[in-house]
Amino acid sequence: MINVTYIQPDGSETTVTAQPGDSVMQTALNNNIDGIIAECGGSMACATCHVYVEGEWADQTGARMDGEEDMLDCAMSEMKDTSRLSCQIKLTEALDGLRVHIPEEQA
Ligand code: FES
Repeated sequence: MINVTYIQPDGSETTVTAQPGDSVMQTALNNNIDGIIAECGGSMACATCHVYVEGEWADQTGARMDGEEDMLDCAMSEMKDTSRLSCQIKLTEALDGLRVHIPEEQA
């Protein structure tokens, strides 16, 4: 079982169960998480799935994909070191407990 927690800018948290292989974005859509809009459906062309990966999880989620940084540059909210496009984070058992923050501008 893979649990993912989404944290809104106001600090409220929602923890959901994800399927292995699903993205953090798809899991958010499946569970009606506010702030993950995903206009492009996961093809890395919109940046409306931007999240900030919490603390130590940033290492676990790996490096950004080619082109991801360019899209994050276009995001509504500031790009930080922990910024990721949630459509590019594929969930595995190793990411059980992952915590991501929704940027204020998307909420
Ligand atoms: S859903 Fe569009 S870039 Fe992630």
